[in-house]
Amino acid sequence: APIPSPDPKSCSKAHIKPNKEVPYSCCPPPPQDIDSVPYYKFPPMTKLRIRPPAHAVDEEYIAKYQLATSRMRELDKDPFDPLGFKQQANIHCSYCCGAYKVGGKVLQVHSSWLFFPFHRWFLYFYERILGSLINDPTFALPYWNWDHPKGMRIPPMFDHEGSSLYDEKRNQNHRNGKIINLGFSCKETQTTELQTMTNNLTLMYRQMVTNAPCPLLFFGNPYPLGTDPKPGMGTIENIPHNAVHNWTGDQPRQPNGEHMGTFYSAGLDPVFYSHHANVDRMWNEWKAIGGKRRDLADKDWLNSEFFFYDENRNPFKVKVRDCLDSKKMGFDYAPMPTPWRNFKP
Ligand code: C2O
Repeated sequence: APIPSPDPKSCSKAHIKPNKEVPYSCCPPPPQDIDSVPYYKFPPMTKLRIRPPAHAVDEEYIAKYQLATSRMRELDKDPFDPLGFKQQANIHCSYCCGAYKVGGKVLQVHSSWLFFPFHRWFLYFYERILGSLINDPTFALPYWNWDHPKGMRIPPMFDHEGSSLYDEKRNQNHRNGKIINLGFSCKETQTTELQTMTNNLTLMYRQMVTNAPCPLLFFGNPYPLGTDPKPGMGTIENIPHNAVHNWTGDQPRQPNGEHMGTFYSAGLDPVFYSHHANVDRMWNEWKAIGGKRRDLADKDWLNSEFFFYDENRNPFKVKVRDCLDSKKMGFDYAPMPTPWRNFKP
């Protein structure tokens, strides 16, 4: 059977790691009754939201995005406003860190086939909330284009102290244009910038093409109701997704690599949403490669459900099957070349 929406009423303490609790509650304000929460219907759309590459946007876009994010941070004054920045980050915390149980087991949206659809829906609402805070129904999140040499660093707009897009809890050695290592695992390597970029492209080819010729290898292992969480992740979730988290988070100074380097706090860094926009873009790019690279047909996947608040503070249930086509959801990605396609080892 598919995983049903968790019941926010039964939300409990989240965990940083197995025997360490998150020192605050990650739970959303619970709606009256999860069974009476309606299924989400896409509002009528006029224009697609086109998500731009974060390194290539203009000042006007940056100003808009900064404004939307600072308005969202202001909503934190009411800690129970589901549209507040912390509440949004807590959505990720509760879905990843053991706050929910379904079918008698802890719910976990990482390390399984729920990874891509959960994060797509999460960003969908996050983007709509930002847009509504600045009255721009076409506002689209920027994507951190780390699969292209021009995007292989923290996008500059996130690296300005004092901006609503900045986060203090990042690895200070990885600021100011430092080239990212998409295979990063806690220790620095001594390679030239050119070599790092070349390695990144080779790694992208491996994760998108060589190692993911069919759906389960890309999406991750089946996770039907009643089975243990974390049956195994897909290629991209492992690398570069996890590596980018660890590279960005403040491993040197924070106990758990906060914010980006650990699940409970990752959503507290605004760059999280641009990182995940690019992870999500890889879903579209992967299908575009062809062969057997298509969405899963398993009903346990298609009918799995999550729960979110929309930009009007109304709670909704959503299904995996409704997020397979980003254009149908109202957004797409501004095209960028994918040079890794030519990096067959
Ligand atoms: Cu839900 Cu990038 O982690």
